[in-house]
Amino acid sequence: MNYTILLPDEEATVRLGGSIAAHLKSGAFIALRGGLGAGKTVLTRGLARGLGVRERIASPTFTVMNRYEGDKVLCHFDLYRVTEEDCLQAGFDEYFFDPAVVCAVEWSERLTQLPPNLLIVELVPTGENTRTAHIKDEGNVLDGILDEKQASACIQ
Ligand SMILES: Nc1ncnc2c1ncn2[C@@H]1O[C@H](COP(=O)(O)OP(=O)(O)OP(=O)(O)O)[C@@H](O)[C@H]1O
Ligand SMILES: [Mg+2]
Repeated sequence: MNYTILLPDEEATVRLGGSIAAHLKSGAFIALRGGLGAGKTVLTRGLARGLGVRERIASPTFTVMNRYEGDKVLCHFDLYRVTEEDCLQAGFDEYFFDPAVVCAVEWSERLTQLPPNLLIVELVPTGENTRTAHIKDEGNVLDGILDEKQASACIQ
């Protein structure tokens, strides 16, 4: 299923992350798309909260990957400054292809091959505090329909 969801403020983006977490069947590779400042890290904050992570989510801008243990393992990547070769050398593909690990990946455009359990979330800024999310459940990783109140108007 594909969704288009309007996000009127930052908190709505956090809630969408929580909704996605609540509907994930198992591990998934979540490709977070959208330019600098689109809200990819903000959405990951909600995702983490929904997965039972208690730690504060920091952007992996310099660490490249942050790993969290909640009800499930969450690995949050920011591949902006690295190449696919760097990722392979670091062994990241083990996480990417592990069906038990939820990967939230910013700048996955750096990779040529994405895992089959793929969820694409594209965030498009429409104003200073507003975003539109376009969600494609390529790998059929979402169980049921995302938060109805947010999504009902625009399920495709
Ligand atoms: N509706 C919204 N959803 C998400 N973020 C919003 C929204 N409105 C305003 N913002 C602001 O936009 C910024 C989003 O920052 P964030 O770090 O999540 O971007 P990013 O996509 O991860 O960028 P980068 O590629 O640089 O890591 C934050 O400063 C946040 O406060
Ligand atoms: Mg970010």
